[in-house]
Amino acid sequence: MDDVDILIGERDIARRVDRLALDIAEAWPRAEDGAPRPMTMVAVLKGAFVFAADLIRALHAKGLAVEVDFMRLKSYGDATERASEIAMRGGPERPLAGRHVLLVDDILDTGHSLDLARRHLLGNLEAASLRTCVLLDKPARRELPIAADHVGFTVPDRFVVGYGIDHAERYRDLPHIGAVTMP
Ligand code: IMP
Ligand code: MG
Repeated sequence: MDDVDILIGERDIARRVDRLALDIAEAWPRAEDGAPRPMTMVAVLKGAFVFAADLIRALHAKGLAVEVDFMRLKSYGDATERASEIAMRGGPERPLAGRHVLLVDDILDTGHSLDLARRHLLGNLEAASLRTCVLLDKPARRELPIAADHVGFTVPDRFVVGYGIDHAERYRDLPHIGAVTMP
């Protein structure tokens, strides 16, 4: 596609997802006998769905038992996403009280989405513990002092698409991650 510059290819993504799963498994809470606690992965729709699908299988391969749930955030306004303009739009469906949660999102940008989701899962839904994992980190535009526990790739301040991430609902089906040259 000539309107997308490839930033990260399919094989690099696959390698990174495998390594992320290893790091997540090593850091995951464990019971007294050393066995990892069961995980509830909560993926933020729609952007994280492809990443979550690969990550859940990679985590299985590292010996974790993973349940998956989803939540949806709706952001109002276009370029500027302020906290007041992001709202929870449903999910997760299963109770999280006492569960150890891995919150998975596509991109950490200003930080408002991850901050809101995190506070909701820990504060309102009373998850026992929460770790965060984002596929992409765009530190250039951060507005809140928030970092993810696990980051796939750090990317420059460009509009990225592919591997589940869209621009006006296009490009989610790309197997690679790219930057739109003519948004
Ligand atoms: P934040 O609340 O500003 O951190 O926004 C994060 C959300 O904005 C991501 O989960 C994406 O849905 C969206 N977003 C931020 N940057 C991009 C981008 O470059 N391409 C597509 N979506 C983006
Ligand atoms: Mg999002």
